[in-house]
Amino acid sequence: MKILVKNGHIIDPSQDIDGVFDLLIEGRIIRGMYPEGKAQKGLLTQKDRVIDAGGKHVMPGLVDMHVHLREPGFEYKETINTGTHAAIKGGITTVCAMPNTSPVNDNSGITEFVIRKSQKEGMCSVFPVGAITKGLKGKELAEFGLMKEEGCIAFTDDGMPVMNPVIMRRALEYSRAFDVPIIAHSEDLNLSGGGSMNEGLLSEIMGLEGIPRAAEETMVFRDVALAELTGGRLHVAHVSTKGSVKIIREAKASGVKVTAETCPHYFSITEDAVMGYNTNAKVNPPLRTPADIEAIKEGLRDGTIDVIVTDHAPHHYDEKLLEFDHAPPGISGLETSLSLSLSLVEEGVLTLEGLVEKMALNPAQILGLKRGTMKAGARADVTIVDLKKKFKVDPKDFVSKGKNTPFDGWLLMGAPVITICAGKVYEWD
Ligand code: DOR
Ligand code: ZN
Repeated sequence: MKILVKNGHIIDPSQDIDGVFDLLIEGRIIRGMYPEGKAQKGLLTQKDRVIDAGGKHVMPGLVDMHVHLREPGFEYKETINTGTHAAIKGGITTVCAMPNTSPVNDNSGITEFVIRKSQKEGMCSVFPVGAITKGLKGKELAEFGLMKEEGCIAFTDDGMPVMNPVIMRRALEYSRAFDVPIIAHSEDLNLSGGGSMNEGLLSEIMGLEGIPRAAEETMVFRDVALAELTGGRLHVAHVSTKGSVKIIREAKASGVKVTAETCPHYFSITEDAVMGYNTNAKVNPPLRTPADIEAIKEGLRDGTIDVIVTDHAPHHYDEKLLEFDHAPPGISGLETSLSLSLSLVEEGVLTLEGLVEKMALNPAQILGLKRGTMKAGARADVTIVDLKKKFKVDPKDFVSKGKNTPFDGWLLMGAPVITICAGKVYEWD
């Protein structure tokens, strides 16, 4: 079957396309783009489908390289099926599944399980990320080679830092040999201690133990130094502070192989969101201050931060009912990510093309995936966005099991309306 997406404003930075074209899909593959009206003649039969994308924007399906799907082990929080469904609703057609499951994805058997289950029950494409160390314990390296062979596309202990610098050094050496990125959860546990929010006046007032920015920045600095030492590929996860942006900017300028990501919550809300002990705003690293938000936006603008991810971290309602310092950190992000990020375009921080780079092309390139592009021959992953659609965030409408969002009740402008994943069309109003 063929699908013709007509009259849409196509944004595809991989081909430098920013204009109105018709897009032809055949089966699971993109066939090409044609100037308005040129594609119809003789191309379609009655069985084929025409989607009118007039007034809408058509972009490559988004690639989210940092998602907690929670399966195996925490199916009460999320499953591969519900998490990938939430991704599709958010305009995301490829997700990378973090390894902090139970058991941990630290061996090829679990990698194979995630891949098989995703093929059977996943609604979008899933690429597993393997653990750096066995059981995320930071002591012994996992079998990178076997896990890569089975399908892992990167390695991380996300959720936990690799505290021992010798282990991190070895991981980066292996990353070079296997040509995969090491994704660093940058947190010095000695400094973050039992903290549960940003350290500052507000944490004092609220009587909560704080997490200083230096807990993140000292580790970003350490890992940049180790990436320089080893020549390995470092990708810094969920950047939350002004200082981290500065360190990464300087490292890039001096030729270190480092890339970085941030999440919509780090440029949309500050620590003030935790007032009232709102556990839905508890996340690790914690929400910071207006100065950090400004630095993160500048980092996105000047290319220091390459990628926007969700760090989708669904938790059960009852877990988030615990007292603030006992509730687990994390935000359910898949269904709000694109709408929140579109505000960067509205504010002039990024062009729409720049946003598609951060949310589709760059993550695909960092991971070596043939995604994030609508070139002829690419997989037919396409997101159609209505920039004028008003979207009121209501976690009751989430298909994710994780209703833990600090954006409840927000009115956002712009949202995906159709997601096409490997040629399959998902549409909602
Ligand atoms: O907020 C977070 N939640 N940060 C992490 O690093 C882990 C994640 C989770 O797995 O819930
Ligand atoms: Zn994470």
